[in-house]
Amino acid sequence: MTTSASLEFDHVELLIGSVESAADANAKAVRNTVLSPRFYTTDFAAMDRLNIESVRTEWDVMMKEYEGDNNHDHFQRDALFAEEVKTLMPQLSPEMRQEFLDFLISSLTSEFSGCILYNEIRKNIDNPDIKQLMTYMARDESRHAGFINQSLKDFDLGIDLGQLKRTKAYTFFKPKFIFYATYLSEKIGYARYITIFRQLERHPDKRFHPIFRWFERWCNDEFRHGESFALIMRSQPELLRGVNLLWIRFFILAVYATMYVRDHTRPLLHEAMGFKSTEYDYEVFRITSEIARQVFPVEVDIDHPNFRACMERLVELSIANAQAKERGGLLGTLLRATTAVQAVWTFGRLYFLPVKRNDLPAQVRVQPAW
Ligand SMILES: [Fe+2]
Ligand SMILES: [Fe+2]
Repeated sequence: MTTSASLEFDHVELLIGSVESAADANAKAVRNTVLSPRFYTTDFAAMDRLNIESVRTEWDVMMKEYEGDNNHDHFQRDALFAEEVKTLMPQLSPEMRQEFLDFLISSLTSEFSGCILYNEIRKNIDNPDIKQLMTYMARDESRHAGFINQSLKDFDLGIDLGQLKRTKAYTFFKPKFIFYATYLSEKIGYARYITIFRQLERHPDKRFHPIFRWFERWCNDEFRHGESFALIMRSQPELLRGVNLLWIRFFILAVYATMYVRDHTRPLLHEAMGFKSTEYDYEVFRITSEIARQVFPVEVDIDHPNFRACMERLVELSIANAQAKERGGLLGTLLRATTAVQAVWTFGRLYFLPVKRNDLPAQVRVQPAW
């Protein structure tokens, strides 16, 4: 093993922690860190007051698609699945196995996070348009979470979703923040899954787990969920102007930076698919930024050299922070505080980079054409 590879493994271990038992897997799903997916709750009365009339035509077409439910039979394993698991999984190195488990657990937590949020909104409102939408989206996310959990169960690492729902902390977000954050996470979810699917379509020999064969139809669900939030935001134009543009910028950068740092803790996973983490993340940023022109009047400049430098810096700081934590003691605490301040500073630099402006298109919806 080369020095740089062994350093990378150390970082991975420091940042993701190893999962050896179902208890570890469940503990990992419950834990809230800066990088891990969270559970959200919101102001249900405000959700109830939403009026989507100004986008009614596009809304009704979208609701027909949900009703048609073209993925109702998709989340079932085929005969080949178990066979592929049996032959491919023993071939993973222990480090790769940890990264893949981390990927499955964080993906499951974020799918389930959507499921809970949409379900809670559905239960707590009467607004027929939003209630119907939340019912459909919760249906989809519950299938997605269940499907990933089956793959964790193959490793005897199934997550107890009922327990997770009861024990994980919830973060309160005003509806507008839910819209910005959830829109981005749905579209980024689409971009991530389609980028992986296309790559493995070109290189089937690099498909080290059968679950990736499901990603194409799966990510169309995520795409449609994102479309729903795009329509909601476009129906409330005040969310897309004035001081809210500063919030939008903040959310885009927070979501991008979290993904970038997180993905750079899993170099082997991307390598196994024939990607470098950086290359994969920029492809995901590019797709997400392109799609987001349907709703956000501002766009961050992902090709700005300082943007790239700051993203790299955040990865370094995250590693330094994990090393300081490992070290412990007073010095460890001081070092952690220093890296935290530097991370805030770096994020501030990202925030003040120039942004691009977009004129919003008359027709909101776009097709998942990537
Ligand atoms: Fe999902
Ligand atoms: Fe989704």
